[in-house]
Amino acid sequence: DWTPDMFAETVIAELKEQLGDDKVVLGLSGGVDSSVAAILIHKAIGENLHCIFVDNGLLRKNEFESVLDSYKGMGLNVKGVDAKDQFYEALKGISDPEGKRKAIGRVFIEVFDQEAQKITGVKWLGQGTIYPDIIESVSVKGPSATIKSHHNVGGLPEKMNLKVVEPLKTLFKDGVRNVGRSLEIDQNILGRHPFPGPGLGIRILGDVTAEKVAILQEVDYIFVEGLKKRGIYDEVWQAGSMLLPVQSVGVMGDERTYERVVALRAVTSVDGMTADWSHLPYDFLQDVSNEIINKVKGVNRVVYDISSKPPATIEWE
Ligand code: XMP
Repeated sequence: DWTPDMFAETVIAELKEQLGDDKVVLGLSGGVDSSVAAILIHKAIGENLHCIFVDNGLLRKNEFESVLDSYKGMGLNVKGVDAKDQFYEALKGISDPEGKRKAIGRVFIEVFDQEAQKITGVKWLGQGTIYPDIIESVSVKGPSATIKSHHNVGGLPEKMNLKVVEPLKTLFKDGVRNVGRSLEIDQNILGRHPFPGPGLGIRILGDVTAEKVAILQEVDYIFVEGLKKRGIYDEVWQAGSMLLPVQSVGVMGDERTYERVVALRAVTSVDGMTADWSHLPYDFLQDVSNEIINKVKGVNRVVYDISSKPPATIEWE
């Protein structure tokens, strides 16, 4: 029978053979797939794997620092690149979801390309592509189809004249997690919910600014940490929050307020293709809502998304 250990062992041996003394560059996203792909390649070729982790300014609160630390702790040769301002600049005034995805994808490629150029003699681009990515990008015509190309750094191999190495392309998500577990990758990385490549950029409806990102990061942090503290993070397939482009009237003390509305979203799913809204406990929702409104300046109303996919999607954009 096939085991994750055997898979890892076989793949590492194949990678050694295939890559020899060549250098590989790989973009880490903080997600499960790119992390497991990186560890496999690292085990095969060590320091000849050069990882790049880009801070696009659209990550969760504290995510860049904490994930970069985990990567270093796992022994990866990784460079963190702060490109926040470049992304914000490119996103200025763009409200259309696909326009934002395109801008984010374009800047990512620019930044990644620039960093990769600094590594002399690199021959390969490592990618965390998994089987559903390949299927989805041919069968789905939707928001997520477009991005998969950014997520997996589409366009780069041709541009940089690199060969592509994709050690996970026969696996489903569960298989990737099992292989990751057998490689003893941090649960903090393995167990995390999926997070879209364009990040908070597509959870801020309308145009993206650093100020809006800061608000949404606080909201998201309270929600996700709340799920963890309550012990229900693992029951949810994906959770996040959306900053809506509307203001609502509220009351604080004896003052009238007119502030932002956020929507919380949590779903159960197997593969993200279909999803149900999570029936989170009312008292949990109440606590999270109170904490958000009390702590996050500029937000005075919280709503919970009870739409299933289809006909809704998981993300709002
Ligand atoms: P939807 O909103 O299409 O999301 O139901 C399904 C899954 O795909 C993720 N998603 C994306 N992932 N780039 C990504 O890397 C994207 O542009 C993108 N759009 C959606 C979404 O978070 C969910 O897990």
